[in-house]
Amino acid sequence: MTRSVLHKNAALLLAGLALAGTAALPRPATAQDGGATAPAPPAAAGQATAAPRDPQVMRGEYLARAGDCISCHTRPQGLPFAGGLPLATPFGTIVSTNITPDPEQGIGGYTQEDFNRALREGRAKDGRHLYPAMPYTNFARLNDADLQALYRYFMKGVPAAKQDNARTDLRWPFSMRWLMAGWNMLYLPAKPYDNDAARSPEWNRGAYLVQGLGHCSACHTPRSITGAEKGSTERDGEVFLSGAVIDGWYAQPLRNTATPGLATWLPQDIVDYLKTGRTGHTAAFGPMTQVVANSTQHLTREDLAAIATYLKSLGGENAAPPAAAAPAAPASDPTTLALRDGRFGQRGALVYLNNCSACHRSDGQGAQRTFPTLARNSAVAAKDPTSLIRLVLQGSAMPHTTEAPSALAMPGFGWRLSDDNVADVLSFVRGSWGNQAAPVSPQEVGKIRGELAKSAKAGN
Ligand code: HEC
Ligand code: HEC
Ligand code: HEC
Repeated sequence: MTRSVLHKNAALLLAGLALAGTAALPRPATAQDGGATAPAPPAAAGQATAAPRDPQVMRGEYLARAGDCISCHTRPQGLPFAGGLPLATPFGTIVSTNITPDPEQGIGGYTQEDFNRALREGRAKDGRHLYPAMPYTNFARLNDADLQALYRYFMKGVPAAKQDNARTDLRWPFSMRWLMAGWNMLYLPAKPYDNDAARSPEWNRGAYLVQGLGHCSACHTPRSITGAEKGSTERDGEVFLSGAVIDGWYAQPLRNTATPGLATWLPQDIVDYLKTGRTGHTAAFGPMTQVVANSTQHLTREDLAAIATYLKSLGGENAAPPAAAAPAAPASDPTTLALRDGRFGQRGALVYLNNCSACHRSDGQGAQRTFPTLARNSAVAAKDPTSLIRLVLQGSAMPHTTEAPSALAMPGFGWRLSDDNVADVLSFVRGSWGNQAAPVSPQEVGKIRGELAKSAKAGN
């Protein structure tokens, strides 16, 4: 999809740079989603820590969740944090390493300084340059106190695991880790977060979490041809958190100017979404499922509210007022009336009635926190329909969270609906009940169906 094209270019560019002796390496964006789309580690993994509890260790555990270290550093059925998860990138497969305190396989030999250097500068203890599949460009924002708590947790709270590190063998020129030195010089901000005195403590807390441990921009900010995020703080302007395609999913904009988008969400909606994976009108899907399940659901409501305050400040005062005041789609909505009367003006309406309305209803309202509302939904009306096509072809399940344990699922329709059918039904949904998004073409559906078939064959 969009991304693979970008990376093909990036790969060519890199090969050129390497030959010319210039040091730069694209950031393999795939690594991010590779982590996030990998099967969730065993449910107990997050709690696999030694008993009673040094407060600093507990603090470190909380921060490790905020950073979602477990999603990338645990392979399916593997021991927590023992590494071995392959993250596919167009340059080759990057395998995450063992970060348990085992002295040989893990990071038991790391001092606090070594640990800080790995997280902030992307250098391993032995001097190896880490690939930015590890989000150190985001973790560079962490303050010393949090790095101390994290270090203590990894040394004292995580059981050591003797799990061998698989080797990462990228093909030349990507095999040359030292190329990262030049890339870092260009793209690594290398500055811990600095409080903005003009803003409230809550806003600053949110900014720190979003830019740092949460590494939200790793998926939600578009990248340049070298693979670097085009913006890493609100000071970088409108491109920061403006939405990006990642591993065949579209991660919507997180800016308050985004309509459809967060501009129509109340701060409480953002908190509910991150805590439970659902709101009264939408549910998390794709890579965001794992982010919610392994990371954000474990954050306190205060921290989630801080994140909401920060996100709602992006884009400023011109933002549209939250839509909560207006009913999502009144019963007198023309689409709803037409569907109920059996008048099918558009081809997609019949496909909808036969395949979708049992759950999402003829008024597009779904059922509260069970089946998402399709009326005036930011995911449905997103600028880029990639996620929707993939969702209808493959199906999806909501995250399982402590506060909303039922992982309700939508079946995939790829086996029974043609490219035309899928394009028709999505165009219908994107143009009904107040949604005003562009239609979807059969070609777009065909392209994504092809990509999915290819990656299924490759075993991803
Ligand atoms: C998006 C995926 C991802 C996330 C999230 C992530 N890491 Fe990593 N990390 C990696 C990968 C991949 C590597 C290996 C990179 C390489 O070999 O160049 C790595 C390497 C490391 C290393 C170097 C270990 C060594 O000696 O090889 C440390 C330390 C580390 N990560 C700690 C953390 C901590 C702590 C967190 C959470 C705060 C975290 N990582 C979150 C992907 C991730
Ligand atoms: C069996 C019930 C069921 C049927 C039938 C169904 N869906 Fe869904 N749909 C769901 C559930 C549950 C989710 C949430 C999935 C998730 O979050 O992973 C969902 C999510 C969605 C979303 C994303 C909305 C959001 O905010 O998360 C869209 C778009 C969608 N469905 C469209 C359709 C279309 C089009 C059809 C018919 C081709 C259809 N659905 C059929 C249950 C269903
Ligand atoms: C691994 C990639 C990834 C990371 C990391 C990530 N997201 Fe997402 N996010 C996605 C994708 C893909 C979607 C689209 C799926 C959906 O709407 O459920 C999404 C959707 C969302 C939505 C719904 C937006 C809408 O308009 O419907 C919110 C809110 C959100 N993310 C917040 C965050 C926050 C806050 C963080 C950081 C703490 C974060 N995300 C980190 C991939 C990611």
